[in-house]
Amino acid sequence: MTLAATTHLNTPAVSLPLAQRMSRMKTSAVREILKVAERPDILSFAGGLPAPELFPVEAIAQAHAEVFAHEGPAALQYSTTEGYGPLREWICAHLAERGLSATIDQVIITAGSQQGIDLVAKVMLDPGDVVVVENPSYLAALQNFDGYQARIEYVGSDDEGMRVDELEALATRCRPKLIYIVPNFHNPKGTTLSLERRHALVRFAQKHRVLILEDNPYGELRFRGEALPSLASLDDMGVVVQLGTFSKTLAPGLRLGWAVGSRELTRSLTIVKQSTDLHTGTLAQRATARLLAKFDYDAHLTRLRAVYGQRCQAMLDSLEAHMPEGTRWTRPDGGMFLWAELPRGMRGEDILPRAIEQKVAFVPGSPFFAAHPKAQCIRLNYSNRPPELIDEGMRRLASVLAAQ
Ligand SMILES: Cc1ncc(COP(=O)(O)O)c(C=O)c1O
Repeated sequence: MTLAATTHLNTPAVSLPLAQRMSRMKTSAVREILKVAERPDILSFAGGLPAPELFPVEAIAQAHAEVFAHEGPAALQYSTTEGYGPLREWICAHLAERGLSATIDQVIITAGSQQGIDLVAKVMLDPGDVVVVENPSYLAALQNFDGYQARIEYVGSDDEGMRVDELEALATRCRPKLIYIVPNFHNPKGTTLSLERRHALVRFAQKHRVLILEDNPYGELRFRGEALPSLASLDDMGVVVQLGTFSKTLAPGLRLGWAVGSRELTRSLTIVKQSTDLHTGTLAQRATARLLAKFDYDAHLTRLRAVYGQRCQAMLDSLEAHMPEGTRWTRPDGGMFLWAELPRGMRGEDILPRAIEQKVAFVPGSPFFAAHPKAQCIRLNYSNRPPELIDEGMRRLASVLAAQ
């Protein structure tokens, strides 16, 4: 594969040979169509965007102002790779409230959980190593594992999340090195891993000495039912590394997340992070630590949960009212997405251009599959629009489906 490189806009292009991995990292046709979905006249349920009106803008601005007033030079200086101590301490206290006991040397601050995925992959995966994912799975994780030339194997999933019972059979044919899972309010499906499967998954990982990468960006966004213990909290052998993020609770533009795991693994993550970006932005870390010291984070989460719960319900009601017979969808207890299966014979990719003509957008499901894509599936995001626009959008989508 080659890249057209120019030293000046008017000079002829030179072909540069790229790394082999680039041949596995394609831009999809869907991504091109979704660029159109960003047009302001389109009601888009495609992106994974939180509600911007719920970003605590003033509190974040105030925290930054305080940082500049009291610790400006330190906040603009290079810093340690592990991250800012008081922020890591807050994370430990926060995790303890959720039943996970960890010390500060088990926590590293990352540039969002996306970087956590990358660092874990970099530490764990040699070309050809096996990563097990749910099918379908979070697209940007699949792309990341592809970038490390890993072999992606999959197990199925249903309304209770990953089919953990399929892991033993898989382990008889290959030796997994990493299991990647989004246990709470899955992206793209919106489903949650049941308690029984959580125990079974940790038992499997301990027995086979496989690392579980527990990606938990949506765990705080439960608007229905009881919270379930995290995989990390069920593990006493250091086989789980858990990722968290402030992207879905404060704001994704902060680019602040964390990884928590065994001391040994955290040390390895720190080494690879050092060569990746030295450290996460000092200013954002210090401002967020200040913010969390006095901001009522729990009250903020309660508000987010209430709004997202309402929006999810609006989408469920709207789907119920308008979708043609044969359409099915998941019923999330939290998070930002639901997953719908269109009536037989309809394909998300084929419907999308027609939906865009009617000024509504979604993401076709196929790219989320590691194998055997189900083209009739689509992902719908409900966090980014108020209920009345969700209803209008689902009406438009239903009319496109009815016209098929
Ligand atoms: C499952 C999953 N993991 C990770 C991320 C990345 O989030 P962050 O902004 O924390 O990097 C996302 C974002 O949508 C996600 O859905």
